[in-house]
Amino acid sequence: MDVFTTTILPSFQVMPYATPAAIGVLSFSMFFMKKFISDNKKRNARLPSVPEVPGWPVIGNLLQLKEKKLHKTFTSWVEIHGPIYSIRTGSSTIAVLNSNDVAKEAMVTRYSSISTRKLSKALTVLTQDKCMVATSDYDEFHKMVKRCILTSVLGTNAQRRHRCHRDTLIENISNRLHAHVDTSPDEAVNFREIFESGLFGIALKEALGKDVQSVYVDEFGSSLSREEIFKVLVLDPMEGAIDVDWRDFFPYLSWIPNKRWELNIQQMHLRRQAVMNALMKEQKKRIALGEELNSYLDFLLSEGTLTEKQISMLVWEAIIEASDTTLITNEWAIYELAKNPNCQDMLFQQIQIVCRSEKTTEEHLSQLPYLNAVFHETIRKHSPVPVIPLRYAHEDTELGGYYIPAGSEIAINIYGCNMDKKQWIKPEEWKPERFLDGKYDPKDLHKTIGFGAGKRACAGALQALLVGCTSIGRLIQEFEWRLRDGEEDNVAIVGLTTRKLQPLHAIIKPRT
Ligand code: HEM
Repeated sequence: MDVFTTTILPSFQVMPYATPAAIGVLSFSMFFMKKFISDNKKRNARLPSVPEVPGWPVIGNLLQLKEKKLHKTFTSWVEIHGPIYSIRTGSSTIAVLNSNDVAKEAMVTRYSSISTRKLSKALTVLTQDKCMVATSDYDEFHKMVKRCILTSVLGTNAQRRHRCHRDTLIENISNRLHAHVDTSPDEAVNFREIFESGLFGIALKEALGKDVQSVYVDEFGSSLSREEIFKVLVLDPMEGAIDVDWRDFFPYLSWIPNKRWELNIQQMHLRRQAVMNALMKEQKKRIALGEELNSYLDFLLSEGTLTEKQISMLVWEAIIEASDTTLITNEWAIYELAKNPNCQDMLFQQIQIVCRSEKTTEEHLSQLPYLNAVFHETIRKHSPVPVIPLRYAHEDTELGGYYIPAGSEIAINIYGCNMDKKQWIKPEEWKPERFLDGKYDPKDLHKTIGFGAGKRACAGALQALLVGCTSIGRLIQEFEWRLRDGEEDNVAIVGLTTRKLQPLHAIIKPRT
């Protein structure tokens, strides 16, 4: 028996008088629905098409995009083509959005028409076909796993429960910096080395319950150190995510093999999977012995609704997302403060007044508006996620008054939005003061579009703010920072996010 005979039919039979009325209402609504859809289609079709950036036949604009810093190329085209324009990458058409208004229209108002993604071949392998909160389409799976990550790791209550990990991180970083000054006071400190390792520790504790120091991996027949685990789980996939397979641009040529590329990305995935399996096996032994911990893995296993493969991908997601973007923000924030001694002094003065002899903690953050402004200005100027992974219009829609046909891809250039001269005065300058203007609510996490917007806004924004602000506050409270010679020009970036190509090296002097 089908669903209609078992469920729908009986419910009509017990309401004999309601049936004709219901059918009448149904036909009436269907008539209006059809009319609404066809009116909408006609209206969309009457709208102008998005201005095109001229390119070449067949390859479109690919040659103009060969520099990997897409966000900068996109932003440079705004002067000529306006805040919304379209490009062609082989056989795909991409609408590029470069202003807050039109980006928010895509992420909020028209979200229902643009709620899916078309992933590159590399991302399809690395995300195991969208098996992550951040890359899934907006469907039941997405809603379920987003609830899981918020409840267990990133929501307000979960963040309260993970507070001890953040405190330990900041204490360890401070101790390591003091140790550096004691042993080599005149040598520049490699900020990234210290901060990245601490952040990875938080990621492991939240995801697995423990800051793992090494793990035996059956498939490799050997043990991996913490640094090697970091490389396999974070550094390699970040690099792999921007590895382009030319067949992405010409799907009709997908039958041509690209063996070397496929082997490379598959091996990256298999290594990651092997390490995740080994890490999870260790923690399952712990759980079997009755030792429960406040971790994402413990939570997902106790839910009992997900497969082993899904759990492994979700736990890995929590690790990689906690390890990268927060480092990028803090490295750029310290770079800017070291480069701008007046801003550093201003922040130090405020910390002195508010914290006096106490160490800066999360409790002080609401009284430190300049620290908050430093955080948001860094996210604005150095947007850690400069371009949101491509969204896909699965039905006809409109953006910025232009017609967007179904099948278009949408690139939201967050960096471009943050460099919009109509919205920001002298956007190329790093000036935290701009956020002290009364029009910004100090508690608002979304002063810029840096964390996205709407239903897919960043789930980890609170953690990024708490770790970012408290550690920047403590580092400025305890040390005076100065860039080492030549460091000012080290601004090249690399990767999908805006990771500095060269790690920040700074001279630090303890404050007395
Ligand atoms: C300064 C740091 C960060 C920035 C700038 C940032 C930025 C973003 C942006 C722009 C999005 C939206 C992507 C889209 O619209 O498709 C996003 C989504 C997301 N972020 Fe972050 N992020 C940061 C830190 C974190 C951290 C620390 C975590 C977790 C540990 C995290 C987890 C997530 C997740 C799970 C999503 C997907 C939300 C969804 O699709 O519903 N983020 N992030």
